[in-house]
Amino acid sequence: MLPVLVVHGGAGHIPKERVEMSCAGVRAATRAGYAVLQGGWSMDAVVEAVTHLENIPSFNAGCGSVLNVKGEVEMDAIVMDGRTLASGAVSAVRNIANPIQLARLVMEKTSHLCLTAEGASQFARAMGVPEVPGESLVTDYARMRWEKNLAPDANPVECQMGKMGTVGAVAVDADGNIACATSTGGMLNKMEGRVGDTACIGCGGYADNRVGAVSPTGHGEAIMKVTLARLILFHMEQGLSSHEGSDLGLATMKERVGGLGGVVTVDPQGRWAARFTSAQMAWAAAQGDTLHYGLYPGEDITQSIGDPN
Ligand code: GLY
Repeated sequence: MLPVLVVHGGAGHIPKERVEMSCAGVRAATRAGYAVLQGGWSMDAVVEAVTHLENIPSFNAGCGSVLNVKGEVEMDAIVMDGRTLASGAVSAVRNIANPIQLARLVMEKTSHLCLTAEGASQFARAMGVPEVPGESLVTDYARMRWEKNLAPDANPVECQMGKMGTVGAVAVDADGNIACATSTGGMLNKMEGRVGDTACIGCGGYADNRVGAVSPTGHGEAIMKVTLARLILFHMEQGLSSHEGSDLGLATMKERVGGLGGVVTVDPQGRWAARFTSAQMAWAAAQGDTLHYGLYPGEDITQSIGDPN
């Protein structure tokens, strides 16, 4: 079994001018996380990769998050440790740069699974997590999309295009330990206080050393209706591969609730999948000396892990 890290930068339709940024960001995050995975713990690797993506303004997580209906950033994040099924999440949290790290603190320092809104902020303060101005998380692009979606003639479907860039990662380390991490600004122009799939265990992420791990992206309400991460792992428990289980879970979500999305998935043997029903999903996977990546359905480009681009 070779350790593996698989990362996504969100399912959706990525505008042409943002394609290169998205793909380069996902490759860079995968390299950063994979460096940690070498001789290290899968949890550290997935948190490193997702932190990297939260810090890149072109993704819908951390700085660059989409705005809620009031024009503010509220973020959700989750981590899960497949050894013990320990998990931590935050929802509707504001004024922090890296919600994924706060989710990890919820897992490690509390007896709870999820803290929300002001309670999550109070916990962040108590943990010494630096508070940042809300405006520092808002990009011109996010504000432009928000304003466009407020227009009376806005097409809600078109307005969501390019904005499903939730980020996530799954990994198996050399000891066979499995972890997942997912982080998002949620859905464009969502109601204040809306909690999406990303904060909900079994929906926006799940990891179990006995079965595998999944980090989803896509329309949160659809993902929650089918508990997508756990549904895929259920199919894998029944004997399907990571690839087949991912496709079946995504097909069920499309057929039952009309939801599009994508996932990155691993099994305990390090067999991985990056699958999606949306037009695009920026993803990358590192295993051995090889970095795989893609954006369009069926695409799997390979390069040496040492290639800096
Ligand atoms: N999947 C991200 C969200 O809907 O919040």
